[in-house]
Amino acid sequence: MFFSKKCNFAFLIFITMCGIVAYVGHQEAYPILIEGLKRLEYRGYDSAGVALLNKADQLNVYKAKGKVSDLEAKVADKDISGHIGIAHTRWATHGEPNETNAHPHLSKSGNIALIHNGIIENYLSLRKELEKRGFQFKSSTDTEVLTNLIEDVQQSEHVDLFEAVRIALNHVIGAYAIAIVEKGHPDQLIAARKGSPMVIGIGDGEYFIASDATPIVGRTQKVVYIEDEQVVRIKLGEELHIKTIQDVEAIPYVQELKMNLDSIEKAGFDHFMMKEIYEQPTIVRDTMRGRLHPEANTVRLGGIIQYEKQLLYADNIVFVACGTSWHASLVGSYMIEKLAKIRVKVEYASEFRYRDPVVTPHDVVIAVSQSGETADTLAAINLAKEKGAIVLGICNVIGSSISRATDAGIYTHAGPEIGVASTKAFTSQVTVMAMLALRLAELKGTMKDEERLEFIKELDSIPEKIQWTLDHSGHVKDIAAKYKDVRNMLYLGRLQNYPVALEGALKLKEISYIHAEGYPAAEMKHGPIALIDKDMPVVFIATNHSTYEKVISNIQEVKARDGKIIAIVSQKDVLARKMADYVIEIPETECLYSPLLATVPLQILAYYIAVMRGCNVDQPRNLAKSVTVE
Ligand code: G6P
Repeated sequence: MFFSKKCNFAFLIFITMCGIVAYVGHQEAYPILIEGLKRLEYRGYDSAGVALLNKADQLNVYKAKGKVSDLEAKVADKDISGHIGIAHTRWATHGEPNETNAHPHLSKSGNIALIHNGIIENYLSLRKELEKRGFQFKSSTDTEVLTNLIEDVQQSEHVDLFEAVRIALNHVIGAYAIAIVEKGHPDQLIAARKGSPMVIGIGDGEYFIASDATPIVGRTQKVVYIEDEQVVRIKLGEELHIKTIQDVEAIPYVQELKMNLDSIEKAGFDHFMMKEIYEQPTIVRDTMRGRLHPEANTVRLGGIIQYEKQLLYADNIVFVACGTSWHASLVGSYMIEKLAKIRVKVEYASEFRYRDPVVTPHDVVIAVSQSGETADTLAAINLAKEKGAIVLGICNVIGSSISRATDAGIYTHAGPEIGVASTKAFTSQVTVMAMLALRLAELKGTMKDEERLEFIKELDSIPEKIQWTLDHSGHVKDIAAKYKDVRNMLYLGRLQNYPVALEGALKLKEISYIHAEGYPAAEMKHGPIALIDKDMPVVFIATNHSTYEKVISNIQEVKARDGKIIAIVSQKDVLARKMADYVIEIPETECLYSPLLATVPLQILAYYIAVMRGCNVDQPRNLAKSVTVE
């Protein structure tokens, strides 16, 4: 299991996907909280919980694994009264999705209940300190640590909850959006945020808190967006009291909420796919959080620490995966072989499981899967285990079947991916591959320290470079308009950009139903060149790396046959851009990282072509997000 008891939790990272709702006012809180959680369901989650403070000053906490409806069923015969409460949908980051780990968390005394989005990076050291001071923990979460840290400050400093939260957050490294309810204070909520969004709705004699405006829409139009490192006291009959954690007073800026529900869920984008494409700078940063350490010239992958030796001395590392995850694995194979000099094979899980592969206990098999539920990948894991190999996982969904079936693994932490066509999951998987390659290279000594540092620093800059790519992709829509009616499209790239060609073609066929093929550029002469004519657009990933001149020759060959050329080029490119009909620039980067940038405009190209053809982008025909059958 990824998250076995042995697991080192220190390297998990923050995602913003959990949902927070809180209420204080003149109405019964429970129906408002449940309705709010349901409106946040689009974010994806694995458990839900609610805490309500009733008139008798009892703080009732109810939690359920699964859906909000499971929580509702659970509380059917319980006391759900109270005009103040907090509620949460959790997407697991620390420990498995179960009731114990679900929020809200109660402090040791039972006086405060807290919900939290984000991650407390230094929670292990805080937990150890608190344990010395007599605190005990029921869950594996960082949230329970934060709850008790606040209580500890409150008790030892003799301050009120508002002040205790402010002081406690000065000891916290990481990201958070929190809401707290306290016994004896039925008219007050305390909230704070850093790096994780939070909005407060101001109603008539009532207040709402939520992780985005979705639960608030229709209840009030007056909202205040809390800034990073601000703590808020929300008290009935009083103005919002906001301070920074550095103890500086701040004035609430009340804004009018104008969005409708649908546009908020999709963060203003028309489709989840585009929202997820635009999340990629954040996701890649989150995937690296707590793992990539440029200051120490190292990478730490806590989830697989106890298997590093086996990886280093493996006869082969064998990736098994399907679809987009297979493409990410292919990028990974280039990275690991080049940097760590370990032999890597990449297998379609569906083929691997039936072709009686030669796998021995000296091999390490790594299953790569966004959903963690793909039937063929699970079957491949079982086969590899039967053959005695160590099986690791690279997976997005915590507690999923694949994460449970593997010996250990690395979570990608891309958050829930709702669009059926995978986008941010791919970039997060490739980011994990890069970190794995660098870690193995470090252990094996296959890179000089200075060289590794350059690679680590460059990886650290990738989120900004993806953002640049997004910011400069406006014209991709024009390219889409030009080619939306073609019947075929060819994608060509070499080395690490060959998987990018495959992924670009897959995106296009998945969502626009245009036939598209990805090929290693040099293979064009062995077949696809016969297809080239004036109606055939060819996408070249022509970044300025080792095979650049050879790709330029391929471009010339297509041009000579009247084919149309869309070229993804590096910023400083001179040659390719002269020959192409359309050019898409990406920032200069280390060649092995170019898939992290070059894939992004191809996702956008496929997206616009599909939209212009009137296709259902988020739910393409015949495809499923999670293929749990053979
Ligand atoms: C389906 C999805 C693809 C995904 C593939 C593998 O075909 O539509 O987007 O790449 O399954 O899924 P996994 O969850 O194992 O990565």
